[in-house]
Amino acid sequence: MRRAAEEVGRAAGFVDLLINNAAIYLKKPFTEANEFDADMARRTFDVNAVGPLLVTKHFLPLVLAGSGKKIINISSEAGSISQCWRSREYAYCMSKAALNMQSVILQHRVKDDGVKVLAIHPGWMRTEMGGADADLDPSESASGIVETIARNSAIDGPMYLDYTGKAWEW
Ligand SMILES: NC(=O)c1ccc[n+]([C@@H]2O[C@H](COP(=O)([O-])OP(=O)(O)OC[C@H]3O[C@@H](n4cnc5c(N)ncnc54)[C@H](OP(=O)(O)O)[C@@H]3O)[C@@H](O)[C@H]2O)c1
Repeated sequence: MRRAAEEVGRAAGFVDLLINNAAIYLKKPFTEANEFDADMARRTFDVNAVGPLLVTKHFLPLVLAGSGKKIINISSEAGSISQCWRSREYAYCMSKAALNMQSVILQHRVKDDGVKVLAIHPGWMRTEMGGADADLDPSESASGIVETIARNSAIDGPMYLDYTGKAWEW
């Protein structure tokens, strides 16, 4: 991450929009509590919650040097505690709830620098993660996310939104 940020810094000197999108959904944690796999959960947490913060850590100076000043964490409805309906899928949901918390803490830290942080649920998409039966083509989700990012610049405005721009409860 550090080397990637150094390279972008040399090539461009700034980043207007940082999007943390990568995540994993390991099938084994899709289990009941008595089958919970701690190693899989740690891997999930590492990629989905720790990874985005590491990227942000190394790219933040470039975001501060840019004029767009936005950091987007691609979250999930699965990270909402108040809207949770599941009785399994611990690891993925816990990792996205942690990503949401990270987004709020980061927003507090960077608000005086004029940086807006968003946590966006992209919808259920037909990707490797979402599967063939999902509702959305990823391009539809991506277009909605671009519009949602453009429309939500106010630092004190909503932070947890879906790809249609609808605000979610944490
Ligand atoms: N699909 C859905 O229905 C859905 C619903 C809610 C939220 N989301 C969220 O939307 C985002 C995109 O999901 P998706 O459906 O596109 O997932 P996906 O089809 O599984 O693709 C995940 C992407 O993340 C990358 N990635 C995974 N681990 C990585 C790592 N350690 N380092 C670098 N890259 C890594 C993968 O790269 P490689 O291909 O190189 O492995 C791949 O490009 C994720 O944050 C996901 O949690 C998806």
